Amino acid sequence: MDSAINPTDLAARVARLRQAIRYHQYRYYILDDPEISDPEFDALWRELVELEAAHPELRSDDSPTVRVGGFVAEKFEKVRHPAPMLSLANAFGPDDLHAWRERVKRFLPADLHDQLSYVVEPKFDGLTVVLHYEQGRFVLGATRGDGDFGENITANLRTVRVLPLQVPAAAEAGPAPARLVMRGEGYVEKGDFARFNARQTEQGERAYANPRNFAAGSLRQLDSAVSAGRPLKLWVYQALIVEGGPELTHHSQALDYLRDLGLPVCPDRRVFADADFATLADYVEAFGRRRDDLPYEVDGCVIKVDSLALQQQLGFTGKDPRWALAYKYAGEEAITTLLDIVINVGRTGAITPNAVLEPVQVSGVTVKSATLHNEDYIRDLDIRIGDKVVIKRAGEVIPKVLRPLLDARDGSEREWTMPPACPVCGQPLMRPPGEAATYCINTACPEQLVRAVEYFVGRGAMDIEGFGIKQAELFVARGYIKDLADIYHLPWDEIRQLEGYGDKRVDNLRAGVEASKQQPIHRLLTALGIRFVGSVVAETLAQRYASLFDLMEAGVEKLSEIEGIGPKIAESVRTWFAVEPNRALIRKFADAGVQVAEERVVTLAAPKPLAGMTLVVTGTLPTFSRDDAHAFIKQHGGKVAGSVSSKTTYLVAGEAAGSKLAKATELGIPVLSEDDLKRLV
Ligand code: IVH
Repeated sequence: MDSAINPTDLAARVARLRQAIRYHQYRYYILDDPEISDPEFDALWRELVELEAAHPELRSDDSPTVRVGGFVAEKFEKVRHPAPMLSLANAFGPDDLHAWRERVKRFLPADLHDQLSYVVEPKFDGLTVVLHYEQGRFVLGATRGDGDFGENITANLRTVRVLPLQVPAAAEAGPAPARLVMRGEGYVEKGDFARFNARQTEQGERAYANPRNFAAGSLRQLDSAVSAGRPLKLWVYQALIVEGGPELTHHSQALDYLRDLGLPVCPDRRVFADADFATLADYVEAFGRRRDDLPYEVDGCVIKVDSLALQQQLGFTGKDPRWALAYKYAGEEAITTLLDIVINVGRTGAITPNAVLEPVQVSGVTVKSATLHNEDYIRDLDIRIGDKVVIKRAGEVIPKVLRPLLDARDGSEREWTMPPACPVCGQPLMRPPGEAATYCINTACPEQLVRAVEYFVGRGAMDIEGFGIKQAELFVARGYIKDLADIYHLPWDEIRQLEGYGDKRVDNLRAGVEASKQQPIHRLLTALGIRFVGSVVAETLAQRYASLFDLMEAGVEKLSEIEGIGPKIAESVRTWFAVEPNRALIRKFADAGVQVAEERVVTLAAPKPLAGMTLVVTGTLPTFSRDDAHAFIKQHGGKVAGSVSSKTTYLVAGEAAGSKLAKATELGIPVLSEDDLKRLV
């Protein structure tokens, strides 16, 4: 039929069909406003499928027809995110919300407060994904993973119909950005989830616990054809990198831009001025009340500072940006029986009492245990074994026992007291005066060691594949591991004799242990499990100290000078390194060939040109907005002040500068134009 058409025309026809199909899918899936009827769409679709079948040379990865999956992976490849994927600080009520706003204001100079506005969005409860587009083509999609590395799930994401394989979907949106990286959430609508589960149950197959697990499970299939059969959807909620696109100054504007490109951006969002914060708080509460009516699962709202310049200034603390907050709605509660209370020994020796519960369903998950925090919690609430208790599961957190139902008692309930000795090592437990926690202070307690080893080899730390709690338990129980450095002295030949430890397994494990010796020192530092030293703090410390031997000698004062290291952390680090067995441990790591010092090319950062100077900006500048000028000054090390005083180094003045200019002239403070400022820098 088309053999008469010349190849250029054919290619052009295929390109036009693809463009048209993309556009109509966008109208249908994203705008929910189709322009053509289903049969008309089907005709376009069929024509494209037929042309592609007849002319394999015209097939392309970004054709809208390539959504049926069929790519089967052996395992997911790891991909490094362009920047760490941060998490969000949580708020659980209006007080937390107001406290957050105060904190935001404390961190911003007063003269910037009038630029504050906020965007409120739903907090989607699915699987976080990072999406990459290059020259408008969808090229990579990954899970969040541990924040630094995710899993490459591109093949599965390509099957998600609402995700355009090419943007813009409609020509009016302008040219494709050169590079676009976004964060979003894969999810499944509640109705689709219920239908899928009903069918599974009917067919005697396993049902999923809740829409979130279903979405995550569907996106993490090795066979993308399975993903293709799942009713997956997606929302995009943050632009991480936009290159070759319009100048974006606000988050809300970035979302509009992404929506116009044809990406699925949730329309449920609102912007509030800072002056309307009370309305914002009401809106957040009201949204919580209507969340059951939404087609998708929501576990809260996310409140974000709208201005991207202010976001940048606010920065982050640990893993949470200061400019955003997750407002969580209370989780579902349930009533069940407390069968027993058992205690767990953590890696620091802290003892946690845990509730053993009669299994019960909460928010679609079977709960069999819950935390009871500490001795006082149990005593203050008068929780007894045998009680009917109210438990609650909120978001990700471990379920907790809220209270006993006193009226339901029949007298058979038993009071519980903290046992005097550690259930694992038998040594006496101790509760330091003024602390709520009880500790097993025997550093040789095998359970602590097991937990410490588990943490050491874990994902966020030395990341040794094939090494988990099972191996930790086994090697500690057999006496192979008496301290953390023994991980590098395991008797491999003996291990080969153990049941379940064949040659291949042992070789892999050994290779993993060997490879971990080359981990950057911040990972080793994290792995040590020093109190308050998580991965972020460890990175900060390792940036300043390239050798753990140098860090070992650093005093509290020196440590506290590092940005991001407060006195509490400094004290903890100092105390840890002051203990001789800990110092010996570092030497033992070094002797085993574990990297404890990094060689670094030292590049002295050029001093920032405006360091030590205070500048005031006034009037209308030719190209900079007030925001831009402030950001520019800060970026180059200067301080910004709101009014002119004898402490002002320079006044930057534009058109229609008024009283500030007069004041500066009076005080003899030099006045710069925007150009002068740029030249100065
Ligand atoms: S913004 C720097 N917005 O919630 C963090 N996150 O508890 C930027 N999440 O895994 C994230 N809905 O991926 C943002 N509207 C939304 C969100 C959202 C869900 C996820 C997020 C993260 C988790 C944090």
